[in-house]
Amino acid sequence: MRQILPFNITAFSKVLSANGLAVEAVLRETLCGGWARGEAAKADSRQRLVAAMGHALFAGGKRFRPFLLKSCAELCARWSNAGETGGDPLLAGAAVECLHTYSLVHDDLPAMDDDDMRRGQPSVHKAFDEATAILAGDALMTLAFEILVQPGVHPDPAVRLEMIGLLSRAAGVSGMAGGQMLDLAAENLVLDFDGIKNLQQLKTGALIAASCEMGAVLAGGDSAERTCLSAYGAKLGLAFQIADDLLDVEAAAADIGKATAKDVGKGKATFVAHLGTDGARALLNETVGDCIDLLAPFGERAELLISAARFAAERDR
Ligand code: IPE
Ligand code: IPE
Ligand code: MG
Ligand code: MG
Ligand code: MG
Repeated sequence: MRQILPFNITAFSKVLSANGLAVEAVLRETLCGGWARGEAAKADSRQRLVAAMGHALFAGGKRFRPFLLKSCAELCARWSNAGETGGDPLLAGAAVECLHTYSLVHDDLPAMDDDDMRRGQPSVHKAFDEATAILAGDALMTLAFEILVQPGVHPDPAVRLEMIGLLSRAAGVSGMAGGQMLDLAAENLVLDFDGIKNLQQLKTGALIAASCEMGAVLAGGDSAERTCLSAYGAKLGLAFQIADDLLDVEAAAADIGKATAKDVGKGKATFVAHLGTDGARALLNETVGDCIDLLAPFGERAELLISAARFAAERDR
């Protein structure tokens, strides 16, 4: 029987928000600072593209993936490198956030989930137009890699290359984009348990797992640490998506900043549809338990990541 320890979601949310503000400052500097001055701030139509990217990036967002990257980096640094991460986890986290934000911009397009609200604001294709939203997504995706090649992320190019490899694999056919393809195709299919799990691990789990492993790589974690944190991230991603699907049926749009009660109408393959809300909640709790078990080798040092798993399940937005 697993021991259920108390979890203070308010305290954790404060820690998450504080890190989110730091990530946002890096994103602002990237989008509005030197890069924009050099390229996009020219007085031509690209200003509209940069405005659409900013609309998507600065509308809010929990910045959960950058938090995981930084927490995993700090965990491995404390464990193996006497507290030094060796690089800049906030800059690397900003890259992951750009990639994640791109996935949301495209996910909302009429050709995909056709959602009009995101992060409490009109989604990019509503605030601008579809073509601009497609391009803003494209530019956010490539900006992620533009950030990761910078020496400021880590002085060793081999470390940066490793992180680029992880992020690109997590975003492509074997990760988020592949999962999104399965998600769309499943609107007209009935998937079994394993089919839904595979879809959700790809569309959401892959990027969360990569965020965790990128943190370990940045901090010079060994292969055991990398494997452990990647497995934790994959499970956490599954939990995160089950919670997202529960919020779709249980939350109010005003609270979560996006439309609710959409998945059933679209015939989305979710565990809520497959198991009902009680069944999905039970699976969510079990999955969070699995996440916590996977952190056992880190002992008490993993406290923040244990809280992150609890947050993924108990969050209300
Ligand atoms: C929403 O992700 C899409 C999923 C993968 C479930 P988040 O819930 O992390 O969205 P933001 O970044 O906080 O807006
Ligand atoms: C998340 O799934 C998909 C992505 C990988 C972007 P959803 O389609 O359920 O995400 P929301 O509910 O629109 O945020
Ligand atoms: Mg979707
Ligand atoms: Mg969606
Ligand atoms: Mg959803």
